[in-house]
Amino acid sequence: VTQHTLHPAAETTATSIRARLRESGVVLAVCDCAGVIAPSDAPSDDWLSRILLDSTLLRRSIERAVAGWNDADDPSCVELMPGCWCTPVPIVSRRKRTGYGLVLVPTIELRDSEQFQALCQSARLDAEVCACALTAAKPVPASEVARIARLAGDAFRDAQRLDEATRTMDSVGQQLAESYEEISLLYTISQSMTVVQQPRRFVNTACQGLLDTLAYRWIGAQFLDEPDGSRSLSGRLIVAGDAGRGVDDLVPLTRLLVEMAPADGPLVLDPASNADHAMFAPLGQPIIIHPICRDGRVRGVMIAAGKKGDDRAATSADLKLIGATATHTGIFLENAALYEDMDTMFLGTLEAISASIDAKDRYTCGHSQRVALLAQQLAVAAGLDEEAVRRVHVAGLVHDVGKIGVPESVLCKPGRLTEAEFASIRQHPEIGFRILKDIPQLRDVLPGVLHHHERWDGRGYPHGLAGESIPLFARLIALADSFDAMSSTRTYRAARERSWVLDEIRRSAGTQFDPRLAPLFIELDFSEFDRLISEHRAIDTPLHSITGEAA
Ligand SMILES: [Fe+2]
Ligand SMILES: [Fe+2]
Repeated sequence: VTQHTLHPAAETTATSIRARLRESGVVLAVCDCAGVIAPSDAPSDDWLSRILLDSTLLRRSIERAVAGWNDADDPSCVELMPGCWCTPVPIVSRRKRTGYGLVLVPTIELRDSEQFQALCQSARLDAEVCACALTAAKPVPASEVARIARLAGDAFRDAQRLDEATRTMDSVGQQLAESYEEISLLYTISQSMTVVQQPRRFVNTACQGLLDTLAYRWIGAQFLDEPDGSRSLSGRLIVAGDAGRGVDDLVPLTRLLVEMAPADGPLVLDPASNADHAMFAPLGQPIIIHPICRDGRVRGVMIAAGKKGDDRAATSADLKLIGATATHTGIFLENAALYEDMDTMFLGTLEAISASIDAKDRYTCGHSQRVALLAQQLAVAAGLDEEAVRRVHVAGLVHDVGKIGVPESVLCKPGRLTEAEFASIRQHPEIGFRILKDIPQLRDVLPGVLHHHERWDGRGYPHGLAGESIPLFARLIALADSFDAMSSTRTYRAARERSWVLDEIRRSAGTQFDPRLAPLFIELDFSEFDRLISEHRAIDTPLHSITGEAA
């Protein structure tokens, strides 16, 4: 009855004060603007409520009274029938009157009225018993009705205000809780934004953070294939939570979502009831997508799918948080792209420097680039993580940078070197170390530079370190370095055959080389190395071999 016309809170208000007023012989009810009384939660043994509210007779009088009140700004107390007074308290919701609180005050005249019998009959109560009960209850005298009704009306109004305030507080509390979750999530995300070199880790953290905050089965991010985008995210789907199937199975659908994503805001897909979205049903119900933009273009989408709980509808709080995460991810991508640009430039600079040093001796052209490649491949084979592998590559590029301090006449000298010339060449690891030691970005590759001529058996230089006391980067570079030296033509000898070089490495495992890394090195795929060799040979065709002392 009252669901659509009467503010549901009005019933709560009535319930909260009904019992108190009833003790004073007053019955409280609520009705809508048609005069239809809302079902009361008065206890079934409350005979007075039943007498007053169960009868059609009284309900008709209320309907008639309401019709009059609806037109009045300040509706006033009426006597519905002899001995039954009713004071209306208008219930207002969003500045519109939606019904009335009805303060019903019976007096002793009710007992003596003609209608009393009929009222009791409607309530299926014995009239005589009710008459006794009414007498015993000492009802309000007629002269006091107006005062009591006013008091009861004020109590109803106060309770209404209190309920309104409680509801406002509840809603503020709810908003506060949501804001807290939002701030906490954004904090987590912005904290992880500092890990610029790990875009996948960042996106993982963002998706996991959202999943911990929102009740969705899974949250993910699908990125476009982009040659100029972040290398580690291009074309990828990253998922947190349980999508119910493998990531690879989801990709055909999530890629379509990227195409559907509007550039300026979220989109909620409803596979259960929208035929256009039915194909996305395997992802979950509902599906929220939000574009991830960089430089004003959609580069991917944030996806939340399969809401948990009874209410499967996407809320505005869900949309807001997913949107904020997508925005942060977009900003992160901008930073990551800048970082990758910078990193590419940094590596390019290192490559140029080492290539120019290698070029001092035409026989070592491309040496550093090839050593970097092999050391990196060996680091992967040895199970190093992505970041360490990257650093090994950098260490390989700069390992011989100290040769800049060795006279060209010595580096390029054909034939046997004198003791003094040897000593001069042997200084290049330390010179390299000194050149690079003040560059913060290269600090972790320094051990590789300083110790790449150490030997496993301790007979190397500059410090004669042995075994595992030789830094790992240096042990990796040592293998790559010797392999390249043996595989290319030098001033003093021709390039060795591949099988000869690999045999040499096998033989030297445990003396010159780390006995655990040497077998991994032998198993490497040398096709990229061979490609580089022929590329470098094309740049500078070497002279034919001249025999001499090995370096
Ligand atoms: Fe070297
Ligand atoms: Fe070298």
